[in-house]
Amino acid sequence: MGIRKVGVVGCGLMGSGIVQTAAQCGFEVKVREVSQELLAKGLSKIEGVLSGAVKKEKMTAQEKDAVMARISGTTRVEDLADCDLVIEAVNENVELKQDLWRRLDGLCPPTTIFASNTSSIPIRVQAEVTSRSDRFIGLHFFNPVPVMKLVEVIRAQTTSDATYNEAMEFSKTLGKTPVTCIDTAGFIVNRLLVPYLFDAVRALEAGIATPEDIDTGMKLGCGHPMGPLTLLDFVGLDTALAISHILYDAFGLPHYKAPKLLEKLVAEGKLGRKSGEGVYKY
Ligand code: 3HC
Repeated sequence: MGIRKVGVVGCGLMGSGIVQTAAQCGFEVKVREVSQELLAKGLSKIEGVLSGAVKKEKMTAQEKDAVMARISGTTRVEDLADCDLVIEAVNENVELKQDLWRRLDGLCPPTTIFASNTSSIPIRVQAEVTSRSDRFIGLHFFNPVPVMKLVEVIRAQTTSDATYNEAMEFSKTLGKTPVTCIDTAGFIVNRLLVPYLFDAVRALEAGIATPEDIDTGMKLGCGHPMGPLTLLDFVGLDTALAISHILYDAFGLPHYKAPKLLEKLVAEGKLGRKSGEGVYKY
């Protein structure tokens, strides 16, 4: 496999998880954030997770130091120019992603693979602003990235066989199970997950049970690790809302339309765990 140096753009919830996982699997990783403050926050999150693993004796202190030594942070996009693979994990905003890819396209050699960790924006729309639509693919990770075993590998119509094979191989080297999906809104998981999460909110709106009992119902009745309302808070209500807009625009089906309660909570700044309150208070 030709991938040795991995660039990650964004060191938030998903980006930091991708950085950690790639570094733990032996890749040299460069991560770019927009400010020193956000970079320090993301890197200290990784350090904290690894320190927890050392405490639990799942890793030695030397192994942790070796993982951290493989990670370097920057605020300059230019510093990713020598990466073999660049994965973006920035906000779900089409213009933001397109601007980033245009810049990177001018900096990286034509051999560098570009991968988007988008949860719902078509790969085609991002690939078409670059001169390498054959070296462009989707790699959709799941939160928390170091723990969740799945990667959705999204093949755009222009993605070459070589790029697809390298992306599959890379995902397996990270210890993940890749599944392949065509370039369609929401891919496999969010296409099925979003209506389920929204139905849980609709059940809450209809007053069928308390949030706790809805969650316990699905946890214990279906063996899910988290109930749907806890999961919604975990994913982020704003993220779920953004995904639903893309799904509703693409398919026009009523089950992709966000429930009123979700819109209200987002408007009040109740975005889930990350803001301290969503369906639940943290
Ligand atoms: N980073 C790294 N490791 C983490 C972590 C994090 N953020 N959160 C938990 N872990 C690790 C813990 O250290 C622990 O590791 P260990 O077994 O080696 O000690 C392990 O995960 C289990 O954690 P806990 O014991 O604290 O808690 P749980 O057993 O309750 O597991 C969970 C936590 C893994 C988050 C589990 O509740 C779960 O699987 N929830 C569902 C998550 C899910 O569905 N994610 C997908 C969301 S959809 C998405 O991401 C797509 C996007 O496009 C919206």
